[in-house]
Amino acid sequence: MWNAPRRIAELGPGDSLGIGLTALLTGAEQYFAFDVVEHASNQQNLTIFDELVELVRSRADIPGEDEFPLVKPYLDDYRFPNDVLSEEHIVKCLQPERVARIRRALENLGQVDSGDSTIRYVVPWMTTEQADHASLHEQAVDMICSQAVLEHVDNLAEAYSAMRTWLHKDGFISHQIDFKCHGTALDWDGHWAVPAPIWKIMRGARPYLINRQPCSEHLRLLESNQFGVKIRNPIHTDSTLSQTQLAADFRTLSDSDRNTSGLYVLAVPT
Ligand SMILES: C[S@@+](CC[C@H](N)C(=O)[O-])C[C@H]1O[C@@H](n2cnc3c(N)ncnc32)[C@H](O)[C@@H]1O
Repeated sequence: MWNAPRRIAELGPGDSLGIGLTALLTGAEQYFAFDVVEHASNQQNLTIFDELVELVRSRADIPGEDEFPLVKPYLDDYRFPNDVLSEEHIVKCLQPERVARIRRALENLGQVDSGDSTIRYVVPWMTTEQADHASLHEQAVDMICSQAVLEHVDNLAEAYSAMRTWLHKDGFISHQIDFKCHGTALDWDGHWAVPAPIWKIMRGARPYLINRQPCSEHLRLLESNQFGVKIRNPIHTDSTLSQTQLAADFRTLSDSDRNTSGLYVLAVPT
């Protein structure tokens, strides 16, 4: 029997808290969101919440590759997961007073004295200079996830170390990471050809850009923080650069890294 995570943390939710709200609507009790910039507005998320209630109530299928082709990982099965979220469980989760309580927590987001710990939106979290292990206590959450975020985090070592501290011993982390250039070059891997001084100018004063770390660095940090990888789905895309075109900092990239444009990873504490 699968135990649904009760306390969930998401890194970099962006403007939609939809992942966390769906988790709360399907049984989680607490959702913590950590971002470096405040993108999310209450009003927009209340609209998203109301739509999610209807989607869960009608056990709608998960939107697939046709609707969101850029969202990875692609799933084998997009049907509503009735085998995991039974009829009885969903009925309990969607009791009107429970739904109203979650909605209230969302309405009160950002009000210091609301006294409600159902949703916590922590901004700014982990800027370049400052890491923040103290945002959560040890083993506080059962699941930590992110979608297209870890390629942006400047201090990756701190992020993995904080996740290891926060994660319950029976929990898991789930991350989709995009190693492509994010519009900083013409070819998907062109960012690895940009010399450090030019990259600094390109970044300018932005709070984040991309950290240019390859797949192997994430796998190394997982291992050094005592995470065991359970699922590892790399996306292979042929490199467009010759070895000599790589900037000095990236000249030692392995062939495997140079041909890996994305990674989905699910890992557990060892
Ligand atoms: C490409 S957006 C992805 C947003 C959302 N997860 C999605 O899939 O639509 C990247 C997100 O990462 C966040 N981010 C960047 N650096 C971060 C950091 N150090 N810690 C947490 N979030 C960060 C950004 O603020 C932004 O919300």
